[in-house]
Amino acid sequence: MKKKVLASLLTVAMAATMLAGCGSKEEAPADAPTAEEPAAEEPAAEEPAAEEPAADDAAADDGVITVGFAQVGHESDWRAANTQNYQDTFSAANGFELTFVDCDNDNAAQLEAVRSFIEQELDYICVAPIETAGWDTVLQEAQDAGIPVLIVDRSVDADPSLYATQIGCDMVAEGETAGKWLEEYLDGKEAKILVIEGSVGASATLGRTEGFNNIAANHSEWEILDSQSGDFTQAGGQEVMESYIKSYKDFNVVVCQNDNEAYGAMDAMDAAGITYGVDGDVTIISYDATHDGLQYTLDGKISCNVECNPLQATFAATVINQLQAGQTVDAVTVVKDEAFVAPGITSQYATTMTDEVLAGRAY
Ligand code: AHR
Repeated sequence: MKKKVLASLLTVAMAATMLAGCGSKEEAPADAPTAEEPAAEEPAAEEPAAEEPAADDAAADDGVITVGFAQVGHESDWRAANTQNYQDTFSAANGFELTFVDCDNDNAAQLEAVRSFIEQELDYICVAPIETAGWDTVLQEAQDAGIPVLIVDRSVDADPSLYATQIGCDMVAEGETAGKWLEEYLDGKEAKILVIEGSVGASATLGRTEGFNNIAANHSEWEILDSQSGDFTQAGGQEVMESYIKSYKDFNVVVCQNDNEAYGAMDAMDAAGITYGVDGDVTIISYDATHDGLQYTLDGKISCNVECNPLQATFAATVINQLQAGQTVDAVTVVKDEAFVAPGITSQYATTMTDEVLAGRAY
């Protein structure tokens, strides 16, 4: 709604925006003049008359809300579904202009993307943070520029007063669900566990690891043999699994922190002649529950798949619309997710996969 190129045409853009009472990047104070309630003082000579909106106001009046989205990258099927969901939701038809940046899992590039959104004076910024750390300075810069930031998908370590809201799944709860399912499934049997973690420093990795370890801590019969990053990619999952196969001869559980890593791990085990799944020697746990991941679950190859719901953009759009309306927004929105298990397994923590469940999974 208000980009630098338009703002530079104006001499009094901010005053005009306040008079229009919309497109604000900052919540107007309670006593600020609104369109219905103009300021008592006559506007100065150089200020645009209320009935002749400035170019910036004209842009504001078109109702288009400009949003920058600094996305993690394109490392997984989950990410592709999440990106598609943002592009569908923040469409021109829905009144948005989305500036999308794929940060290719590069932290510096992501900070640069956010700074470019600030420079362009976009109305709102969404960030799916690659890492939790290192956000205070740029969030302060956005706040100083009056641009609300929505932290989406993952979380940050920064002071919550520096951003408008955080929207995403509860990653610790996802890890605990995986651990509780394994506890139920093994029912006291020994486990020698290999973990293929997600990207280093990502809240999805930290949370799932913490949650799973919370449950593992109650089980002296479980041993976590190793835990290394596969970077949430299929190639990374395969590489880590190949190296595990060389180092560990005796393991019976592989926990992959997303579906793509699980595909890579299965390729590595296939090549090594290791059997897995409900009828095999190794139990695989995965996260995301994307369509293909659930197909492998239905096929009995992945025993338990803990969902991370990628359809989060409508929550972000709702927050933005609330901010536009000057409403208070929730500090945190937890996007709900569930877990799925292979046919033949019943669990109090998960739904047993069927063709119908898979048919309902578009991403
Ligand atoms: O932050 C969500 C995680 O990031 C998903 O589990 C994974 O697939 C993605 O790369």
